[in-house]
Amino acid sequence: MMKLNAKIILGLVAAVTLVLGTGCGKKEEQIKGIKIGVSLYDAHDTFIAELMNEFNNDITEEANKQGITISVETEDSEGSQAKQNSAVQRLIEQKACDILCVNLVDRTNPTAIIDAAQQHDIPVIFFNRELVEGDLERWNKLYYVGADARQSGIYEGELAAEAFLENPSYDKNGDGVIQYVMFEGEAGHQDSIVRTETSVGTLMEKKLKVDKLSSVIANWNRAQASSKMSTLIEEFGDEIELVLANNDDMALGVIDAYNSAHIMNSKRPVIVGIDGTNDGKNAVKAGDMYGTVYNDKEGQAKAMIDLITALAVKKDTSEIQFTNGRYIRLPYVKISQQDMH
Ligand code: BGC
Repeated sequence: MMKLNAKIILGLVAAVTLVLGTGCGKKEEQIKGIKIGVSLYDAHDTFIAELMNEFNNDITEEANKQGITISVETEDSEGSQAKQNSAVQRLIEQKACDILCVNLVDRTNPTAIIDAAQQHDIPVIFFNRELVEGDLERWNKLYYVGADARQSGIYEGELAAEAFLENPSYDKNGDGVIQYVMFEGEAGHQDSIVRTETSVGTLMEKKLKVDKLSSVIANWNRAQASSKMSTLIEEFGDEIELVLANNDDMALGVIDAYNSAHIMNSKRPVIVGIDGTNDGKNAVKAGDMYGTVYNDKEGQAKAMIDLITALAVKKDTSEIQFTNGRYIRLPYVKISQQDMH
């Protein structure tokens, strides 16, 4: 399913390109078409694949609405910053884009992309993987679309807190302390760092006592999380009362490990994720995951498209609601089982 999505996305060099023979960045009185270059850190990442599905569906609607043609060329960097840099360079040099949407591989290393874009006057919308503020400030045609990582961690902590406050039996050994395991995304990703800290911080603010049994990095990845969880089940068995995962794919990996170990639901810990991916929401609905936090992929796709239209078609961003500076952040939403029925 995931692979299929990625294939669809990559195959989708959408629509007709007629762009008036314009070079990248050249202004035209009447815009008839625009070319968007999209560069992804990894097209197989579930959240990114779902976000791009939204984006590609909505872009067709936007083209109809604006009465223009919009072409989208999507590149997969497969986790390599060097690959991303050369793909972006190629898109720019071959005049294959009027605007760039970049999901950085290494969010601390956008220099090559910023320099190339600025040289050819191509605005860049960075998304999902947040560059540091100093880099965004290097040129006034750099933007960021994403979310507020802190809010997602707080919501995850609130969901977990609610579980234990409402169901004292989730404290399996009855010691008044929540023994938990943390599944972290990539080291250095803004969402891993902040979600890890704020989810546990929220539990403590709510006066719940916590005891970390283990914290593992599973790079947002379901298979990695599953294999690491299998080891933790062997090590800690029934002691684990809560699993906080930085994203749904890792929470699903944790569930996979419990399924493989044939441990029934009533013996499992409370498992909470973040993203509200399709599979994540289904796991909440099925009662396998206690809750998740919706990472608004629809809102983020729409915000990117509105910004693209403002920059490349209307040449006016005055109607765009920036959260601050040139940042757009969409709010997260808590999802628990009640919301799924
Ligand atoms: C999502 C993860 C995703 C990551 C990719 C995060 O915001 O929650 O699921 O893997 O972005 O950068």
